[in-house]
Amino acid sequence: MRISFVHTKGGVGKTTSSIFLATAAARRGIVVELFDADPQGSAMRWAEIADHNDDPLEFATEPINAKKLQSLKKTDGWQIIDTPPGSAAEIQAAIDTADLVIVPTHPAPLDIDRVWPTLETLTHKNAAVLLIGVHERRRLYQETRDVFEDQGIQTFASFVPEREDIKATFGTNPHELYTFDEICEEILGIEEMF
Ligand SMILES: Nc1ncnc2c1ncn2[C@@H]1O[C@H](COP(=O)(O)OP(=O)(O)OP(=O)(O)O)[C@@H](O)[C@H]1O
Ligand SMILES: [Mg+2]
Repeated sequence: MRISFVHTKGGVGKTTSSIFLATAAARRGIVVELFDADPQGSAMRWAEIADHNDDPLEFATEPINAKKLQSLKKTDGWQIIDTPPGSAAEIQAAIDTADLVIVPTHPAPLDIDRVWPTLETLTHKNAAVLLIGVHERRRLYQETRDVFEDQGIQTFASFVPEREDIKATFGTNPHELYTFDEICEEILGIEEMF
């Protein structure tokens, strides 16, 4: 299965979610490859630091560009694609090639306003919003879910909490998976419907 994390807005948690989901899947015995389509190379850098500290990630990481994405061979495992923000050709290529597009979004009005252009490019794709950076007080979370439901946009039942210690995992092999194992399970359910 090929899963792309996409949002034209920067800093929404695409790279962090890619690494955590890949780790959760690998720990379930799925063969995972993470492709870094962001020229900034944040996912590659994460893997490099983890290697350097003898705390390696549990899956392969590889840089990729739009052209290579177009001819990427399918495997029996999961191929997760982390994309850059903005309007790079890599984003469209990652959308076109994906079986599932995940759009990480913060549950806040400004962020919801910024997500529509991305969702409009996904009308013919299997896509779901992943609410990320959710605070303990969940009023905005529930309101955000309602907004997406009203618009017929699929959202993950699980959300990613806002946690300082998630920030500190950059460059490490995450020990704790937070809610990513549940998110992984939801995706396995989607995969079964194929
Ligand atoms: N659940 C979370 N709780 C707290 N902080 C988080 C969470 N997820 C991500 N972050 C932090 O938010 C910042 C942006 O995350 P990340 O780099 O994953 O976003 P991105 O969408 O890949 O950014 P870019 O568009 O620049 O590639 C980072 O500092 C990261 O540690
Ligand atoms: Mg990133």
